[in-house]
Amino acid sequence: MADSFQLRPASAADLQALDALERAAFSDPWTAAQLAQTLRQDSTISLVIEEAAGRLVAYAFGRVLMDEAEILTLAVHPSQRRGGLGRRLLEGVLAAMAIRGIRFVWLEVRVSNEAARALYTEAGFIASGVRRSYYRRPVEDALVLKRDLSTFASARPPLR
Ligand SMILES: CC(C)(COP(=O)(O)OP(=O)(O)OC[C@H]1O[C@@H](n2cnc3c(N)ncnc32)[C@H](O)[C@@H]1OP(=O)(O)O)[C@@H](O)C(=O)NCCC(=O)NCCS
Repeated sequence: MADSFQLRPASAADLQALDALERAAFSDPWTAAQLAQTLRQDSTISLVIEEAAGRLVAYAFGRVLMDEAEILTLAVHPSQRRGGLGRRLLEGVLAAMAIRGIRFVWLEVRVSNEAARALYTEAGFIASGVRRSYYRRPVEDALVLKRDLSTFASARPPLR
């Protein structure tokens, strides 16, 4: 990642920016209340990418359950896509999960979301099932993806 970007955990002070990012990235965004509640939970892993000027350009939430975890949401601002931030963010989330001893990571993705599917496939996720009509606006199936973290080796520390 270029030096002008910083990867760090999210805080309550980021909520307004997270809400704006969420609405810019998704057709059926989480509400501000859902974002705030998820951020407060002890089981949540949160990461944001901040520009040097202080603007948040990407974020991800994960949830840890025993030795498994789920990526709940992950998004890069439309103006910053295809610059490697999604890959860096995903690597940061997986590193944070690996350090907690997580063995398996799960996530759902819209079947039509080619960008995210390519990102996750590149990161070692494999298809594990389909949830019919899982999404709203528009209604769409979810592909369930799984990653075995026992083979995860990050070249970088989880945070910097
Ligand atoms: C999916 C998303 C996070 C990718 O972020 P990004 O910063 O653009 O991704 P990167 O630049 O790090 O790309 C990493 C790899 O992902 C794949 N990829 C990313 N965008 C892609 C696209 N539009 N089409 C095909 N492959 C794509 C490529 O393999 C890419 O590697 P490459 O650039 O060397 O070809 C971003 O498109 C996004 O925020 N989408 C909306 C929110 C979303 O769908 N989140 C996932 C919910 S499960």
